[in-house]
Amino acid sequence: MNRIFDTHAHYDDKQFDEDRDELLNELFNNKGVCAIVNQGTDVETSRFSVELAHKYENVYAAVGLHPEYLDNNSVGELEKLLPLYDDEKVVAVGEIGLDYYYDVPRELQREVFEKQLKLSLRLSLPVNIHDREAHGDTLNILKKYKPRGILHCFSGSAEMAAEIVKLGMYIGMGGVVTFKNAKKAVSVIESVPLERIVLETDCPYLSPVPYRGKRNDSSYIIYTAQKIAEIKNTDAESVLEITRQNAVEVYGINRRRNNI
Ligand code: NI
Repeated sequence: MNRIFDTHAHYDDKQFDEDRDELLNELFNNKGVCAIVNQGTDVETSRFSVELAHKYENVYAAVGLHPEYLDNNSVGELEKLLPLYDDEKVVAVGEIGLDYYYDVPRELQREVFEKQLKLSLRLSLPVNIHDREAHGDTLNILKKYKPRGILHCFSGSAEMAAEIVKLGMYIGMGGVVTFKNAKKAVSVIESVPLERIVLETDCPYLSPVPYRGKRNDSSYIIYTAQKIAEIKNTDAESVLEITRQNAVEVYGINRRRNNI
């Protein structure tokens, strides 16, 4: 049975242009992948995600504006995204959030983030959140709106993870947990119950060891699951199974209909 649920991927990336269809077929047919949620980052990639979701039964789409790519047109662009949310393969508002590493005005980031959180509540959709070097503001804003969803590629402390779990959200874990210097991620995994963790790639980036630095894809989630199993003193199959159930639950996917 296919158990790998990749809750956060970017198969629209040009690194997949050469072999996208071949790779996706291989992942679903031979590599144990049961579902992928492709995340939009702007209008174009959001539309691409929806198209991809229509081409593959077990690909789903998240639609949203990523903080890294915001500019003065972004508030207007939110309007352009609205019709996409009517599509039945759109399961989340994402990838949205705050990124204080990049030089995008923070006020604009917070404005667009809050608008998209309000939208998620209005549409009753979960969110997929990006938080890079913006833990304080991210947590405060999430406490204010209390959306359902996932904090992806979680890079905060165990204390912050506890707050996120208290809000009813899930912690997204990817290849970073296999890196040698991943002390913080390890302490988060130790403290968060498996019932609150989901797995992801963020592919083509953040490949786990032993593929660190190479192009990532959903099949490599097995290495992330093995590392989490080690930390949690269980086996990788159990990690894949529990996190798959969590992902099905948070994205509200009808499991029986889609056989995942
Ligand atoms: Ni991403």
